[in-house]
Amino acid sequence: MTEQPVLEVTGLVKHYQTGSRLGGARSVVRAVDGVDLTIGRGEILGLVGESGSGKSTVGKCVSRLTTPTSGTVKLLGRDISTLTRGQMRPFRNDVHVVFQDPFSSLNPRMTVGQIVMEPLRQHGHGNRRERIGTAAEMLERTGLSHDIRSRYPHELSGGQRQRVALARALVLGPSLVVADEPVSALDVSVQASILNVILDLQADMGFSCLFITHDLSVVEFISDRIAVMYLGKIMETTTRGELFRDPQHPYTQSLLSAAPVADPAGVRNRDRIILSGDLPSPSEPVTGCPFHSRCPIAIEKCVTDVPPLAGITAPDHLTACHLVTAESGAPDISAPINSMGGTPSVHNAS
Ligand SMILES: Nc1ncnc2c1ncn2[C@@H]1O[C@H](COP(=O)(O)OP(=O)(O)OP(=O)(O)O)[C@@H](O)[C@H]1O
Ligand SMILES: [Mg+2]
Repeated sequence: MTEQPVLEVTGLVKHYQTGSRLGGARSVVRAVDGVDLTIGRGEILGLVGESGSGKSTVGKCVSRLTTPTSGTVKLLGRDISTLTRGQMRPFRNDVHVVFQDPFSSLNPRMTVGQIVMEPLRQHGHGNRRERIGTAAEMLERTGLSHDIRSRYPHELSGGQRQRVALARALVLGPSLVVADEPVSALDVSVQASILNVILDLQADMGFSCLFITHDLSVVEFISDRIAVMYLGKIMETTTRGELFRDPQHPYTQSLLSAAPVADPAGVRNRDRIILSGDLPSPSEPVTGCPFHSRCPIAIEKCVTDVPPLAGITAPDHLTACHLVTAESGAPDISAPINSMGGTPSVHNAS
């Protein structure tokens, strides 16, 4: 029997209503538009995509900082998608969030020691002396020295603050950590040390992680598996090695070829295909494949039919693209059918 996943997201939808009741135009932002995700025990799933693709909204639905419009979010087998704030309380032990900017999520009037002890107090863990001991141990595991406990967030560096945020997120021993761009605001040299702390703690404590980032080098470093998101949908998902070895979706191929890669030996030797245009607005209705307006090889079917996310070439490599086939694998987007340059147009399959 296969082990129960820690997180199982099915058909997740989050639409925001925008516009005012006082006359402004009202519209629906389809931030997340039918997402399926599974994270196994001790697995790190990297969720990557451009700004506005819906990554943080997935994270907020999964951690129930917001209520999904529809779909299910199963945490350790229990659907938490419709639980009220009170009903959610027992699950707050199990899922914790780390944000990009720890400064705004750490209480400026509390010392570091108090910040890390707070979840223990809220959940009634041990007596005060035990809570002090647990918090100190957790801080030490994130690489912070003993004397930091009496300091306030504004006295810390960005890297130290993110370590404190990690200690607070992990002190209750959650099953799942949602990390939303946790290193994006840090200097590159500090990023690596924080990513290594996350990997060490993960190996030690065994939590699962939904790691959200727009940065391909970060997602390659940290993830076991990767899901690529575009305009509220998952375009492709597979293991880290497979995604970088054989990116199938034209969007994934464009992202990977556009990313600066530290590759002096030229092993990857990819043509650089820079994505033209911006992500379309999620408040404009889209037919067919969400990527068709920017895809260099889109065909008529891509405009009319939504491609299902399916294991076309292998059961554990899912891609939502009409042009990926079992026989020939990924399409070649560096030799587009549309070789006219400029805005990609749509072509008939023949
Ligand atoms: N509370 C909200 N009300 C209305 N629209 C929202 C709200 N939150 C997010 N959106 C919209 O939903 C879409 C997805 O936003 P989201 O923050 O999930 O994207 P993201 O992939 O995390 O982007 P980034 O990389 O910039 O953080 C965007 O168009 C955003 O403007
Ligand atoms: Mg975000």
